[in-house]
Amino acid sequence: MRIGIASDHGGFRLKSELVPVLRERAGVSVEDLGTTSDASTDYPDYAHRLAAAILSGELDRGILVCGTGVGMSIAANRHAGIRCVVCSDTYTARLSRQHNDTNVLAIGERVVGKGLAVEIVTAWLDEAADMDPRHARRREKIEPTEPR
Ligand code: RB5
Repeated sequence: MRIGIASDHGGFRLKSELVPVLRERAGVSVEDLGTTSDASTDYPDYAHRLAAAILSGELDRGILVCGTGVGMSIAANRHAGIRCVVCSDTYTARLSRQHNDTNVLAIGERVVGKGLAVEIVTAWLDEAADMDPRHARRREKIEPTEPR
């Protein structure tokens, strides 16, 4: 699995802590898409960069870190085909994979500590999407089409 990770300044420290954890994980390659310091940046730039890399097929899944995870998740979810969950607990992380097949996880550095963040990331990476037709149908209905 090819995983991308990106943050703004508000998530830079937690991203720096998560990268080595991800790199130790078997079967994954990790691409760090920035930012590279705690200098002030704009979170949408990083969310859009990561979303584009997933939609182009360059990456399979992504992790976004900002202060709360909220701005990153809003920006990522503007892209059709991106299903981003902002998450501060492992239950939501697991269920977002099973039911929603989320392909991006957003975390807030100011919300969760490193230990919980690692558990959330691990739960999210370990869980598979539930391919039951009812979940697949609902996921298909997420994508924008004609007004219903
Ligand atoms: C930056 O101050 C902060 O607004 C950003 O990291 C994020 O929390 C936005 O949702």
